[in-house]
Amino acid sequence: MGLVTGACFAELGHKVVCVDNDASKIRSLKQLKIPIYEPGLEELVKRNCRQRRLVFTTDIARAVKGSTAVFIAIGTPPKENGEADLTGIENVARSIARAMTSYRLIVEKSTVPVETGRWVERTIEINKRKGVTFDVASNPEFLREGQAIKDFMQPDRIVLGVGSKKAEKLLKEIYAGIKADILVTDIKSAELIKHASNSFLALKISFINAVAKICELAGADVERVAEGVGLDKRIGRSFLDAGIGFGGFCLPKDLEAFVNISRQLGYSFDLLKEVKRINEFQKEDFVKKIESNLWNIKDKTIAILGLAFKPDTDDMRFAPSIDIVNTLVRHGAHVRAYDPQAMTRAKKIFLSGVKFCSGPYEAARSSDCLIIITEWNEFKELDLKKLKKLLKQPLIIDGRNTYSPEALKSHGFKYVSIGR
Ligand code: UDX
Repeated sequence: MGLVTGACFAELGHKVVCVDNDASKIRSLKQLKIPIYEPGLEELVKRNCRQRRLVFTTDIARAVKGSTAVFIAIGTPPKENGEADLTGIENVARSIARAMTSYRLIVEKSTVPVETGRWVERTIEINKRKGVTFDVASNPEFLREGQAIKDFMQPDRIVLGVGSKKAEKLLKEIYAGIKADILVTDIKSAELIKHASNSFLALKISFINAVAKICELAGADVERVAEGVGLDKRIGRSFLDAGIGFGGFCLPKDLEAFVNISRQLGYSFDLLKEVKRINEFQKEDFVKKIESNLWNIKDKTIAILGLAFKPDTDDMRFAPSIDIVNTLVRHGAHVRAYDPQAMTRAKKIFLSGVKFCSGPYEAARSSDCLIIITEWNEFKELDLKKLKKLLKQPLIIDGRNTYSPEALKSHGFKYVSIGR
């Protein structure tokens, strides 16, 4: 998020210094090596570095001295109890305060619990030099991995949580190059908008996954139901794709954090607890589907297509594939896996029982069934005849409803998908 934000601000014409305390990451970035797979990011970084609008450093003090606004894009990983770990934000706020020589606008971009703004403000107040003024603002980011640049440049809205006119004016100037609705709120409301948005998206996904289960039991088709429901403008069709549940570093973590924040504030957000329970159920139910179609999992060879938590990213954090593959391996299956981008990261997670293959057909070779976990485009156009020859039996279990059941049936496959 930090790198995308920095590169996009540079593209808008600002001079941007990106800071990280990971020296090896900064070294790679200086050599224009991008540490993550995000479509379009490499070209954007290269172009703006060449034009000297984007630079990288580990020296936070120098970066703060030369800047008007400082955006905090530190990760807020979950602690064991599900609360967000804010140690990184506190450390950075302290370093920023110590480096400030005149007015600075400090902007939280990380997803943080409501009231973090107040803590950042306090930390800066305690650690800054006498007489130096500052503002803290909250500017939550809604970008999605895989389409982060588009989401940044053409957002549905820009939320500015501010406590002063000066902060509002500065932030509006920074975003002047982007055409979007701007919503100005107080800081706490901006912080809550982010949690409420991500939790609502998670809720939509769990809702359609629960409906998918009812569709299976009733003999209906969840795709048609989602279409019919989504045509209602008040609901909308997006985020109604049934599947094996949501993963990634934001939705699961932010949902958990929102439940915790609510509890601390004195409200038990049971609705969101159920959203999480349904999400866990999706993965368990998917493994049951595999089991009921293979009879026994032990000693079966299973081809897995897709490991990343969604297409167009190499991110494996909280990917549904982790629980599903681990359960299959625990039950004694031999897994042959392929992902177009996430295999380097996946190799560090799946240490045994998984053979990483060079492509979808290599994974399918002599497997008892083919499982689709992530709906990468290249899995939507597989050569079905070839696949049928390579598999021991023509069985596809699809966690992302990538194919039409009729098409696969006509090719002689047994095809099992979600909610249809
Ligand atoms: C999310 C939010 O969308 C974004 O606004 C926020 O800034 C960061 O968190 P991201 O984590 O990149 O973005 O992924 P997203 O596209 O939201 O997908 C999250 C998960 O939900 C994925 O595992 C995806 O496969 C799943 N999903 C999404 C579904 O199962 N069904 C859907 O209809 C949509």
